[in-house]
Amino acid sequence: MKPSPRLSLNNGVLIDQLGFGLYKVPPADAAGLVSTAIAAGYRHFDTAAMYGNETGVGKGIGRALAPSAEDGGTGGSGEEFHALSRNDIFVTTKLWNDHHGYDATLRAFDDSMARLGLDHVDLYLIHWPCPARGLFRESYKAMETLYREGRVRAIGVSNFLPAHLEALMETAEVVPAVNQIELHPWLQQTRLRTLHGQLGIRTEAWSPLGRGQVLEDPAIRALAEKHGRTPAQIIIRWHVQLGNIVIPKASSAARIEENFRVFDFALPDEDMDGIAALERHHRTGSHPDNVN
Ligand SMILES: NC(=O)c1ccc[n+]([C@@H]2O[C@H](COP(=O)([O-])OP(=O)(O)OC[C@H]3O[C@@H](n4cnc5c(N)ncnc54)[C@H](OP(=O)(O)O)[C@@H]3O)[C@@H](O)[C@H]2O)c1
Repeated sequence: MKPSPRLSLNNGVLIDQLGFGLYKVPPADAAGLVSTAIAAGYRHFDTAAMYGNETGVGKGIGRALAPSAEDGGTGGSGEEFHALSRNDIFVTTKLWNDHHGYDATLRAFDDSMARLGLDHVDLYLIHWPCPARGLFRESYKAMETLYREGRVRAIGVSNFLPAHLEALMETAEVVPAVNQIELHPWLQQTRLRTLHGQLGIRTEAWSPLGRGQVLEDPAIRALAEKHGRTPAQIIIRWHVQLGNIVIPKASSAARIEENFRVFDFALPDEDMDGIAALERHHRTGSHPDNVN
């Protein structure tokens, strides 16, 4: 399997462009799915305090770093296994909405670290701006402290609209490395992607398959037929060519592997244009102004 390309964040830290998302992965399944994803080639994992599975994610990563006799030295995958080093793995977690504020953010970070069982995370994000709380600038100050202390290699935000980013930039000393936003062929986020480009922020696409809904789009299915690929591979390849960081979630080894097999073909400009025409400003998740 060809590995994921790595993109440079605005502080020089490298991130695998294709990662594995763990929203709605039950805690008991997280370690096993992380092991399956590592065996398939994934090195980048996206979790959050709110997902309730940080402990399992940390366990799956721990197995990859030091396979134990318990799993036959296979790192849980059952395959022949070579231990990875911590530097090979990229872990993102997120601050949940009820922990906004400077001190609360520091405490929430310590709790996430204890659950993950890691000594640092690669990327720490504010999960939602929660504008009615009015605290995201204070939360971000705490994240800057964690960044300066070396406990996180990069910091960023999620679900920030242009107005939230502009308000944050008035007080931020560290430009966010990413803004993780809902983004798929039915919600292409052209305005935010342009703003990110101007500010040096990477765009990270959550629900990159539109929670599976966009897989049914007839135009996507036609492209899959044309290229002898699956709808998921067409959409993930589109994200890769747009330059998005992309974190699809899947629950079976077959789908996890399928979603990673996107580095041995390319979509020509006419097909990229065809997908651009599918925009319908359709959110599968919440509007960021309504989450508090
Ligand atoms: N920052 C945020 O606020 C936020 C919000 C939402 C999500 N996220 C992140 O983004 C990640 C991805 O988003 P998501 O999980 O909402 O949605 P998604 O990745 O767009 O779609 C996942 C859905 O697609 C299905 N699927 C995946 N691969 C498939 C394939 N090859 N063929 C057919 N169906 C397939 C999955 O089914 P099965 O699981 O049954 O295989 C699941 O139902 C999350 O896991 C999380 O890490 C972040």
